[in-house]
Amino acid sequence: MAVQDNDALLRLRQAFGSFATGVTVVTSTTAQGDPIGFTANSFTSVSLDPPLLLVCLAKSSSNLEHFTQSGHFAVNILSEVQKDVSARFASRSADRFGETAWCGSRLGNPLIDGSVAWFDCETDNIVDAGDHVILIGRVAEFDQIEARPLAYLRGHYLDLGLVEATAESVSHHGGVRVGCLLEYQGQVLLQKTPEGWCLPMGGVRNGFREGRAELEDLLAMQGVGAELGFLYSVFDAPSGNATWMIFQGEMELCPAGVEFALFPVKDLPLQEISPQPVRSVLRRYQTEFREARFGLYVDGTTSAGQINPIDRNATPWSKIMTEQGNQ
Ligand SMILES: Cc1cc2nc3c(=O)[nH]c(=O)nc-3n(C[C@H](O)[C@H](O)[C@H](O)COP(=O)(O)O)c2cc1C
Repeated sequence: MAVQDNDALLRLRQAFGSFATGVTVVTSTTAQGDPIGFTANSFTSVSLDPPLLLVCLAKSSSNLEHFTQSGHFAVNILSEVQKDVSARFASRSADRFGETAWCGSRLGNPLIDGSVAWFDCETDNIVDAGDHVILIGRVAEFDQIEARPLAYLRGHYLDLGLVEATAESVSHHGGVRVGCLLEYQGQVLLQKTPEGWCLPMGGVRNGFREGRAELEDLLAMQGVGAELGFLYSVFDAPSGNATWMIFQGEMELCPAGVEFALFPVKDLPLQEISPQPVRSVLRRYQTEFREARFGLYVDGTTSAGQINPIDRNATPWSKIMTEQGNQ
């Protein structure tokens, strides 16, 4: 195949991947009754009356013959805590059913414990479609539970809980205050305030965009050239009148003003940092900087917020503080 074609295929795959989906595990049995299954995001509901759904199976699948001949299959919609199940059923080396809790459906299909919903189907039709076959199922039985589904976009799992928590946190209060954690050659920029040292912060504004614009103006006025990057921490202000959002960023120009100073990450004046939530943010930053692994802190309804690392399950903030043994 010409390079041009490979390139076009890659771009087509990427373009297809920009459609956000859920994640399912499609299951059935071999003629001997052994359970089989694979991870699929090509699931689509098709018809209510009659109740039909479809899923596309690659012709390269080692289970193609079993799925096209068994006469029945089930679709299990995975929940947000089942990323490991998704990975297991997409890997040829994993013991898919040995490590997964499941039970048999009335039609004999494996139903995976903890799925947000499942559909037990008889195979209604199989359509040949390029390098895939389309399995069309007629739903015989189904069920669902109250749980957040796993979402998938552009080759990555999305944390819908995190998106919701962030949105809730921000819409909870009228005001938003945007601050930044700027790093420059292993040092962090702090701002002198009457209470001690703090991260550079804008004022309380009506929305995130206004708050961020204000912070950028403030930095520019102080001669700080900075590129704000990903959101690092979201929490309620100590006074309770606003949501604080701290962005991480890289600094390109050093400040000229006396209000700002750079401190080595390893050697921050933690005792002089005020208010306390900012001190916690910086303490966490020290640890994560050391391990070169960062997460997003989102305040919970109680004092127990969550750190949400990329590609890992969330860790309760209280656990991290206990492990660090300090406050
Ligand atoms: C999120 C995700 C979605 C997938 N969707 C599909 C799909 O819709 N159809 C498919 O044939 N393979 C899909 N795959 C790949 C299969 O899961 C994988 O190739 C398969 O499990 C390989 O094992 P098998 O040969 O036993 O089928 C997907 C993989 C992942 C991680």
